[in-house]
Amino acid sequence: MTQAHEYVTYARMDELHELQQPRSNARGELNFLLISQVQELLFRAVSDDLDQARQALHKDDPAGARTALRRATRTQRVLVTCWEVMNGMSADEFVAFRHVLNDASGVQSFAYRALEFAMGNRPPGHVQSAYADSYPSLRVELSKPSLYDAALAYLARQGFAVPADCVEKVPWQQHEADPLVEDVWLEIYRDPHTYREAHRLAESLLEVAYQFSHWRATHLLVVERMLGGKSGTGGSDGAAWLREINEHRFFPELWTFRTRL
Ligand code: HEM
Repeated sequence: MTQAHEYVTYARMDELHELQQPRSNARGELNFLLISQVQELLFRAVSDDLDQARQALHKDDPAGARTALRRATRTQRVLVTCWEVMNGMSADEFVAFRHVLNDASGVQSFAYRALEFAMGNRPPGHVQSAYADSYPSLRVELSKPSLYDAALAYLARQGFAVPADCVEKVPWQQHEADPLVEDVWLEIYRDPHTYREAHRLAESLLEVAYQFSHWRATHLLVVERMLGGKSGTGGSDGAAWLREINEHRFFPELWTFRTRL
């Protein structure tokens, strides 16, 4: 019997099960809370793996980076599948408790923002908010080069012609798409046998970016399914705003060089 208690004590399962406190009696609310919390935890799992990948790149260990990226990708697929559970709720069931959210919105998720920062999406507005608000993990993240910055610095050390300003910029500053970086990926994909490690790293990075966009696209579909054209609790105009965000691509040159391949 002691062992059974140890499971609860070790992982603090009793506290974990205290964390879902529906504010209504509506059937869907508990499930909504559970999926939101599960996704939050998985955001953190992905961030942790991206951080390990980044550290491996700093040490010129692309194989170590790929192992961490593969693990991140597995978690990302689970994140996408979480939407399946959310879709078990019908729009009328959501309407029945939506008012209890007040202005709560995923846009306020600091774990999601940290993940975007780790990937390299650091637009000035989000950076300013991160320095102004009270979540220290965001400022810690912004003090580090992003995963993409780390990948480009690794390529530069391998002798690829990555422009110096991509490698030397201050960490919180967002990498802007650069045609010279596109040339680097083109060179690698035109001769994948010679540049085997770099090519495999690129494929692993692209898979992470692809899964991230997949999550965003599926979130948008769920939002349309639940809200139609209603505005969001976070103050945006809802699906229309998210549709614009869906156009964004992480690791931009890794997508654009393909036109020239
Ligand atoms: C019924 C389910 C959901 C609906 C209808 C919904 C709706 C929305 C809407 C309309 C926005 C735009 C911002 C706003 O005005 O609120 C948004 C943003 C966001 N939502 Fe959801 N959401 C749902 C579930 C979730 C869940 C379960 C998560 C994961 C924890 C999540 C994470 C996010 C994130 C991270 C953003 C910000 C995206 C960005 O800044 O690029 N959402 N959501």
